[in-house]
Amino acid sequence: MTPQDQIAIRISSAEIAARVEDLARDIRAAMPDDTLMVPILTGSFVFAADLVRALARVGADWPLDFMTLSSYGSGTASSGKVEIVRDLRETVSGRAVLLIDDILDTGNTLLFARNLLRDRGAKDVKICALLDKPARRTVDLAAEFVGFSVADEFLVGYGLDKAGRHRGLPYIGSIEG
Ligand code: IMP
Ligand code: MG
Repeated sequence: MTPQDQIAIRISSAEIAARVEDLARDIRAAMPDDTLMVPILTGSFVFAADLVRALARVGADWPLDFMTLSSYGSGTASSGKVEIVRDLRETVSGRAVLLIDDILDTGNTLLFARNLLRDRGAKDVKICALLDKPARRTVDLAAEFVGFSVADEFLVGYGLDKAGRHRGLPYIGSIEG
């Protein structure tokens, strides 16, 4: 039996829901109608599901395709080396792309993704990250759309995991102890 982790709530589900609506309005106003949304799996899947529906509520019915990138393994420290685990099926040449991720941490993953899509000829690549941990950045990268700026502590819930666990929590929290 594994003991239950004690988790301190940092961002409640109500706070997340309200912020997702704001983000959808900002994104809708800033991006063209044929924008391709690209959530980076796996951590973004809960956020992306809510953001896509918030975008639909403000009239943005945009195509979506997933890309799975890996930089972490099962630990909590970024390796810096990013791998494409599952590539897009859509072509991005000439298109505006919105990259969607759970958290902008060191920046390695999203820098890799943005450069990849630019190299493939995307005409514009913008980044939406639910969480931003600026203290952890090791590369020069900023997201155009950020839900919450957070302190340098490891977070779980709402799609974020620790060794594969806690993704289903409705809030974002920090494991205590
Ligand atoms: P990067 O360091 O910016 O490349 O972030 C890579 C990935 O690490 C993110 O997309 C998350 O999936 C994961 N990650 C970074 N910080 C955390 C955290 O605090 N909790 C859970 N996952 C994290
Ligand atoms: Mg991730």
